[in-house]
Amino acid sequence: MRHLLSTRDLDRATAVGILDVAEDMAEVAGREVKKLPTLRGKTVINLFFEDSTRTRTSFELAAKRLSADLITFSAKGSSVSKGESLKDTAQTLAAMGADAVVIRHSASGAAQTLATSGWIDAAVLNAGDGTHEHPTQALLDAFTMRRRLHGAASRGKDLDGLQVTLVGDIVHSRVARSNVWLLTTLGATVRLVAPATLLPANTSGWPVTVGFDLDEAIDADPDVVMMLRIQAERMNAAFFPNAREYSRQWGLDEERLARLRPDTMVMHPGPMNRGLEISASAADSSRSTVLEQVTNGVSIRMAVLYLLLSGAAE
Ligand code: CP
Repeated sequence: MRHLLSTRDLDRATAVGILDVAEDMAEVAGREVKKLPTLRGKTVINLFFEDSTRTRTSFELAAKRLSADLITFSAKGSSVSKGESLKDTAQTLAAMGADAVVIRHSASGAAQTLATSGWIDAAVLNAGDGTHEHPTQALLDAFTMRRRLHGAASRGKDLDGLQVTLVGDIVHSRVARSNVWLLTTLGATVRLVAPATLLPANTSGWPVTVGFDLDEAIDADPDVVMMLRIQAERMNAAFFPNAREYSRQWGLDEERLARLRPDTMVMHPGPMNRGLEISASAADSSRSTVLEQVTNGVSIRMAVLYLLLSGAAE
């Protein structure tokens, strides 16, 4: 594995292998000195053209915990405002000696372009490209599910037989796409539930079933309900009548939460629109894995940086 661009091209053994290395990295987080010398002398550049809280900071922490040198670049406040292109920006930063570039960009395919254009030599990690993919988010989601299911006996396990329901703004969600490919590769069954306006026009090539009724989906007793953020910043039209109506039909409120089994996982990649797709009671409940997902994001990002930069992936 030279780059991490999508989950679609990960096979089951590789995906389980990444989750297993993340288990080792999670052990480091439990130590007093949360640091390994593994990537000493390597340089990681965080190249963020879109806003981020979780992904950017957890990649930063992951690189630092592995002793790599780190530069974080945000397009805001940079020469991008003067019209500098992705190619020139990437080449300028890579000229300072990058071994890995972590890129978030609003254009689907930006990470792929950086990896295959020959502009730079570094390993490329996709931290979210447009509405296409967000592979480390799906890996941390799968890691969280596996840990809740198997605890200390997680190593080597996949998600065979797990029933996962993704709810909400599927059409704009790179998290949904990465999860569909990864979770099904790991043996889970995935159901998409959304208003028709928030589903992609054609999901016939996706290994999923599709429904339009959240109450029906909840009564089907899923093991995991993943609520997706309404991505208002990507909407240039009205996709639903109003927030109140969306929340009534598609939100995970207290009454729907109460109908889930006590051990059903309630997931959200964040940032959450509390009161819209998820109620405060659901977000803060014992079923919620939201903060576990954030914690596990550091372990997953340590694992992928380690695998790509230490040569261990070979
Ligand atoms: N889940 C996620 O990608 O969050 P950020 O946008 O805060 O990185």
